[in-house]
Amino acid sequence: MPQHVRGVVARSKGAPVTIETVTVPDPGPGEAVVAVRACGVCHTDLHYREGAVNDDFPFLLGHEAAGVVEEVGPGVTGVAPGDFVVLNWRAVCGQCRSCRRGRPQYCFATHNATQKMALADGTPLTPALGIGAFADKTLVAAGQCTKVDASARPEAVGLLGCGVMAGLGAALFTGEVGPGDTVAVFGCGGVGCAAIAGARLAGAGRVIGVDLDPRKLALAADFGATDTVLASDGDPVEAVRALTGGFGADVCIEAVGDAEVMRQAFYARDLAGTLVQVGVPTPEMRIDLPMIDFFGRGGRLRPSWYGDCLPSRDFPVLVDLYRQGRLDLDGFVSETVSLDDVEEAFGRMVRGEVLRSVVVL
Ligand SMILES: NC(=O)c1ccc[n+]([C@@H]2O[C@H](COP(=O)([O-])OP(=O)(O)OC[C@H]3O[C@@H](n4cnc5c(N)ncnc54)[C@H](O)[C@@H]3O)[C@@H](O)[C@H]2O)c1
Ligand SMILES: [Zn+2]
Ligand SMILES: [Zn+2]
Repeated sequence: MPQHVRGVVARSKGAPVTIETVTVPDPGPGEAVVAVRACGVCHTDLHYREGAVNDDFPFLLGHEAAGVVEEVGPGVTGVAPGDFVVLNWRAVCGQCRSCRRGRPQYCFATHNATQKMALADGTPLTPALGIGAFADKTLVAAGQCTKVDASARPEAVGLLGCGVMAGLGAALFTGEVGPGDTVAVFGCGGVGCAAIAGARLAGAGRVIGVDLDPRKLALAADFGATDTVLASDGDPVEAVRALTGGFGADVCIEAVGDAEVMRQAFYARDLAGTLVQVGVPTPEMRIDLPMIDFFGRGGRLRPSWYGDCLPSRDFPVLVDLYRQGRLDLDGFVSETVSLDDVEEAFGRMVRGEVLRSVVVL
């Protein structure tokens, strides 16, 4: 029997979100219905509401979530009812040209549920990032559910589903930070602070947080930055060089999504250093660099989608590190709110007052 639940919907471009009755179908082959326990509020949800992702309104928002599998469809063997899971937007297909070459973390044909959730009048909904978890229950592809330790706090581990994983992975997997490396993270929001935590986990020596907002620099220090740079206090490139013996950092991570910051991160690298781009640019952003600077400095320029993570490999390990007290996921949860508070939470996010507001169901 299809179920009727409450969900947060963006009906049209720029309009405030509304709470609607959402019809969740029974899971079909390869699908699962998940009872959502917690879901973080991410910039991407706001981008959907503003029409900046695509025009497939109405959207069912929410995608950084943890919950309990309620029912699975025919043929599902990876998860079972009762499993505590973190939802992901990289359910790998195993068959595309990237998966076949042993690089599932770049899968070019990831799975989502095939059936549609809908409004009460039958209008099909587009779930944000194929998840749609600002709802009591959601329908996903079973591969989007990664089973993790059931004793973990849903508000904290659900954040691994998007921004926190993107930041951790930008340092651990894309940047390949290693013991003793110097790392500079530009932008210390949720993603940047996670990159700082990832650099610390990887054994980095000096970890420098750069931001325009002193509140974010205080959080960067909480997550393990050894030094912080207020970007408005002069040239951040010079500041990073001064903190690294005049050379620059081995790994610079751009976690803002800004052309000028990208340029700074490029020049704040040491010779043969790595630039990781995890901030998402808009289509009109441009950078203009002398080719000789690119060639002459050597190193690597690496965009990072979802931190190059593989949820089945990484989520359980990161949840274990969290439970052992070695990864502070609780620190990303600035506040817990209800489904009715998502619009207000967008405001706090835009004003820089929170790392993450988390909806608890
Ligand atoms: N690549 C991925 O898979 C992925 C996944 C999730 C999010 N993201 C992107 O990561 C970026 C950061 O996300 P977030 O949730 O941390 O956002 P956020 O708004 O919480 O953080 C951005 C931070 O950048 C700071 N900032 C702004 N301008 C700056 C400047 N000129 N110099 C230094 N700092 C500056 C802000 O003060 C803020 O602290 C966004 O672009 C987001 O879309 C990427
Ligand atoms: Zn694939
Ligand atoms: Zn997100």
